[in-house]
Amino acid sequence: MKELVSIINVKDYVGKEIKIGAWLSDKSGKGKLQFLQLRDGTAFFQAVVFKPNFIEKYGEEEGTAKFDEIKHLAQETSVYVTGVVKEDERSKFGYELDVTDVEVIGTSHDYPITPKDHGVEFLLDNRHLWLRSKRQMAIMQIRNAIIYASYDFFDKNGFIKFDSPILSGNAAENTTELFETDYFDKPAFLSQSGQLYLEAGAMALGRVFDFGPVFRAEKSKTRRHLTEFWMMDAEYPFVTHDESLDLQEAYVKHMIQGVLDNASYALEVLERDISLLQKYVDTPFMRVAYDDAIDLLQAHEADEDTDYEHVEHGDDFGSPHETWLSNFYGVPTFVINYPASFKAFYMKPVPGNPERVLCADLLAPEGYGEIIGGSERETDYDVLTQKIIDFGLDPKDYDWYLDLRKYGSVPHAGFGLGLERMVTFMAGTEHIREAIPFPRMINRIKP
Ligand code: 4AD
Ligand code: MG
Repeated sequence: MKELVSIINVKDYVGKEIKIGAWLSDKSGKGKLQFLQLRDGTAFFQAVVFKPNFIEKYGEEEGTAKFDEIKHLAQETSVYVTGVVKEDERSKFGYELDVTDVEVIGTSHDYPITPKDHGVEFLLDNRHLWLRSKRQMAIMQIRNAIIYASYDFFDKNGFIKFDSPILSGNAAENTTELFETDYFDKPAFLSQSGQLYLEAGAMALGRVFDFGPVFRAEKSKTRRHLTEFWMMDAEYPFVTHDESLDLQEAYVKHMIQGVLDNASYALEVLERDISLLQKYVDTPFMRVAYDDAIDLLQAHEADEDTDYEHVEHGDDFGSPHETWLSNFYGVPTFVINYPASFKAFYMKPVPGNPERVLCADLLAPEGYGEIIGGSERETDYDVLTQKIIDFGLDPKDYDWYLDLRKYGSVPHAGFGLGLERMVTFMAGTEHIREAIPFPRMINRIKP
């Protein structure tokens, strides 16, 4: 069989006859012409079938029969299409296929997702098929580019991949959003973050990262929350929190550049503003202390174009506050040193200010919200034990974690990036449910 060419690569075959394996996503035509919209997972493009060419090639009878068969192909029929690649300035993609043969592989009947508009619940019910649409393909390609850039960044910066477990005996973040399961008559929890295990890894191997699914029993229905999502955690010894922020900034820039370099077709499909993304790579990120951010929010709360609620020092932000702050700066912004009261137990206090902790959330601009949470970790055995108790947790459950402070404790910091938040930000999508192949939300576990 002739070797198949991917649609994304047809630019290398102008003037040549190629064969592609594809699905028919849409079709139109009149008279002697049929326009087939083809997709193969790498890109979409148009193939043109011209009846006189078929008659010239196959004779009147066979040529007409072949043309008529093509005319009646249903949406999502799978096909091998042979044809000559042509440059075409009128098409957005820039290339077209002048078809010489079409071979049906698998037929299709009454495909539910027609080119017209559908409601989102219907599309989510048909997620296994919705993934075939152009927009969803583009988002998944961006997701892939981010994952690839992540591995590349950590490899280049001396990190080792260290896989943390999914089933765990203790909470990593908080006890309210834990999924509990029965583990041979004992309770076990689905991991909320690999962080605690990564800290053990950092003491064994130095710079480590993990990347895997995590679970949070989020009862909130927002456009930023999933109950199952993918987190990339990194942890490293002998660093201060400031140094950690430098690394996070370099990491996020590397991912953005990776998307620009390796998912340009997807960005074009999604009509993402590339100059904005390039600006985020070229401009230093902002860093603002939590208390300064509160002052700023208070100073602007009466402005005409603001719509967030009043916040006091000590309050947590809602998403309107995060959106306003990141738009105010126009670049990804670290909010540093939040109140200890609403952050996790393992964070180290700011020296001289025990009410604040050495942590940062990285807020994406354009309203995409928090993409990274990170902190410097408490290193003192007694202080950490007390913190665990103060948070209503049992130090016995954390004995192994406390051991890390017993045997050669060192300053260390780390962070976790929510993959789907990053995908949403890069793809410019409204809702996080499109950023993962099969989203899990409070009211959705199928398909
Ligand atoms: O801020 P979080 O809760 O931080 C941690 O879990 C730390 N243990 C990470 C670490 O230091 N290693 O979560 C990290 C990131 C958030 O910034 C956000 O991007 C994402 O995970 N995230 C969610 N994404 C989708 N749905 C949810 N329900 C999310 N909750 C957090
Ligand atoms: Mg957070």
